Amino acid sequence: MAERESWATRTGFILAAVGSAVGLGNIWRFPYQVGEQGGAAFLFIYLLLIVGVGFPVILVEFVVGRNTERNPVGALKRIGSGAWTKIGWVFVTAGFVILSYYSVVAGWTLRYVLLGLQGNYTAESAPEQFGAVASGLDAVVLHAIFMAAVVAIVALGIERGIELSVKLMVPAIILISIGLAAYAFTLDGAADAYAYYLSPELSTIASEWTTILPAAAAQAFFTLSLGMGVMITYASYLGEDRNLAEDAGIIAVLDTFIAFTAGLIAFPVLFAAGIEPGASGPSLIFVSLAAAFAELPFGGLLGAVFFATVAIAALSSAISIMEVVVSYLIDERGIGRVPATAALGVAMFLVGTPAALDLVFIDLYDGFANSILLMLGGLLLSVFVGWIVPDLALDEISKGIRNVGSLGSAWLWFVRVPVVLALIILVALNAWDYFGFLTGDFADWLSTNL
Ligand code: TRP
Repeated sequence: MAERESWATRTGFILAAVGSAVGLGNIWRFPYQVGEQGGAAFLFIYLLLIVGVGFPVILVEFVVGRNTERNPVGALKRIGSGAWTKIGWVFVTAGFVILSYYSVVAGWTLRYVLLGLQGNYTAESAPEQFGAVASGLDAVVLHAIFMAAVVAIVALGIERGIELSVKLMVPAIILISIGLAAYAFTLDGAADAYAYYLSPELSTIASEWTTILPAAAAQAFFTLSLGMGVMITYASYLGEDRNLAEDAGIIAVLDTFIAFTAGLIAFPVLFAAGIEPGASGPSLIFVSLAAAFAELPFGGLLGAVFFATVAIAALSSAISIMEVVVSYLIDERGIGRVPATAALGVAMFLVGTPAALDLVFIDLYDGFANSILLMLGGLLLSVFVGWIVPDLALDEISKGIRNVGSLGSAWLWFVRVPVVLALIILVALNAWDYFGFLTGDFADWLSTNL
């Protein structure tokens, strides 16, 4: 067997993990979740969940990956037994489904780069424009182009493909986001937008928390790339013993910073154009924000820069999802990196194609993978690490940390009880929501279309 690949540098590993975390989740999904879930109240609960659930679960994945130096399926076979070894399948399935539709949405962003450069955003018919971009032949073609880019990078391998590309992409995302937020600060609507975005009303939290909480948890998992083994896979290429807690902290902070900055861009632009942020759901950045750009001086150009940033962020995330499934095929099935990546690219393209033809499939895939599979994967892995292999986990987390003292066991107990309980409740609440979608909107769609 060929020698296992590894990161060339520590920065390479951190940037790859940040690149995975920062994606459509931060710049597409986060602003519309804030809009749908009542502004600052959502932001507040989301931040709590990043710290209280996201950060400890990154470490759960890290210890498994670094300890086993295997893909998620192989990792669980190595340190687990019986039914535990099957968790890896939840991961691989989730990755497959997520990348299939993720690539479709990423394709839309490419289209909006072109529309901006051509000066073609429109305020009056933004929804129709989005409708034309989102589904149909164009969407299928752009989905194929994006998937091809993912395949090209992942086929080049860890060091020459993923590490090299994230070293360019991640700094670009961070710098352009800061620049756009600074621009947004100068707009007329900025003060109102900040008030909406940043001052949570306790009464909203008190009355809406049962809907905000599961949505914010799904968002936290998605944005940190948790629950499908990305962090296991990336940590498995980590040769040395460095401080995992520190790396997890850097990743969580940078990811949160970019989501937060996306809000600092989107809301002032929307308020400046007098557009209500709550109304548009998943099309927020495509319909409302593009319409707002249409109203601003140099809006086409600024919009093109904005959507190009979203596309780059999507690419640096998509490669991590692909890498999970590819690493499984390489390690467990002995398939070469290039054929494995190419075959998966084709398969995921096909599974995603319905989502490029009808928006209802985006909800179908997103709800299943994102709100159920990810959190289920995170829950099962947390139980496994916390209760089945605690000694190994404690030993692994302590490596590379001087004077850990009792921090390691504090983390372990935190995972064992509060994180596990929270995830059980959150999986149940999200499964209930998804059941509502299947019997509601999706059933309606089936009965009108079949
Ligand atoms: N975190 C990415 C985003 O915010 C998406 C993503 C990449 C992801 N890898 C993942 C989500 C693994 C869940 C699991 O857009």
